[in-house]
Amino acid sequence: MADGQAAAWQAGAAATATAEAAEGASSDLLQPHQQQPEPSPSQPQSQQQQQQPQQPDQPPAPAFTVDWITPHAHVWQQHIVPRLAGRPGVTALEIGCWEGRSALWLLAHVLTGPGSALVCVDPFELAHPPFARNRQVFEANLAASGERGRVRFLHMRSVAALPLLLMEALQPPQPPLPLPAPAADKPSAAPAAAAAPAAGAAAPAVKAAAAGSAPVAAPAPPPRAAAPAPMPSPHPPQPHSPRPQPAPQLPPPPPPHLQLVAVPRPGLDLVYIDGSHLRADVITDAVMAWPLLKVGGLLVFDDYAWPQYADNPVCHPRQAVDAFLQLFGHQLDVLSTGYQVMALRTAAT
Ligand SMILES: C[S@@+](CC[C@H](N)C(=O)[O-])C[C@H]1O[C@@H](n2cnc3c(N)ncnc32)[C@H](O)[C@@H]1O
Repeated sequence: MADGQAAAWQAGAAATATAEAAEGASSDLLQPHQQQPEPSPSQPQSQQQQQQPQQPDQPPAPAFTVDWITPHAHVWQQHIVPRLAGRPGVTALEIGCWEGRSALWLLAHVLTGPGSALVCVDPFELAHPPFARNRQVFEANLAASGERGRVRFLHMRSVAALPLLLMEALQPPQPPLPLPAPAADKPSAAPAAAAAPAAGAAAPAVKAAAAGSAPVAAPAPPPRAAAPAPMPSPHPPQPHSPRPQPAPQLPPPPPPHLQLVAVPRPGLDLVYIDGSHLRADVITDAVMAWPLLKVGGLLVFDDYAWPQYADNPVCHPRQAVDAFLQLFGHQLDVLSTGYQVMALRTAAT
């Protein structure tokens, strides 16, 4: 990221430095896909910030202005795709979505099995007002792909979204909410996934999105004030488990009496961390997402070798990634260390 977009992105990232995270969070979760009036992407951003609602029938101009996924697609193809593609019910979390390009790549290449879905977290203009345009493009691109129904969008900072996901994971198992049926004039999810803009293609404009008729993903169950009853640990001690013993130099897992009762039910197969690049935000994202990741799940950090702010550790993900890998190294195997870092979760404790 060394262009003007990156500079704009960095400005937004810096705007998320503080933890004033939860504004509007719960109402967004309860009604996650309500459309709010957005400024026109065709107008200068300075005007956008001052202007209020525009014509509802004015379509956005969905297009990708940057491509941060294709340069690394071969690494995903090597480590992620073989483990997850085609499997039923794969669930992924993406923190930081921009225009939806990586989200659509994940849907087309990783989340290809039946019932697979993606949770997208991005505050967009809540973190940085000019990013209202990105939210509009994100929504339009998802609608254009026909994949909106497989995406749950949490419009908030990750520091607000992850506690909500953890709260949900602490609830007793509930039947999955049905995904909405695709509109009659829309392609179904499967062919759309195959036809989704894989790497370089910009999505066409979709009037349906502008008209507010894009498929609405299943609403999230509202977070409850407290778990009704303590859940048994989903990771009970298994002294005779075939799980390989940790290497001698690694610390042993905690004894059973120190394992928390209220361990969340991990539900994610993939966590992709590409939100705020501040090291405090990156370590927070990783630590809070980790309990949600299944054993056998995959964690990907973007921008480990980000050239920007390479000399400013506060504004760079590297130290956070290093710290996480050190603290959780006994529960994971590092698969790849390059521009991105990819890890496989090997143990629960
Ligand atoms: C580099 S872009 C993501 C790029 C995207 N993954 C892709 O490859 O197309 C970073 C995104 O993180 C979002 N972001 C910034 N702070 C965030 C936070 N605290 N939580 C979640 N997302 C955040 C920004 O709004 C921006 O859209």
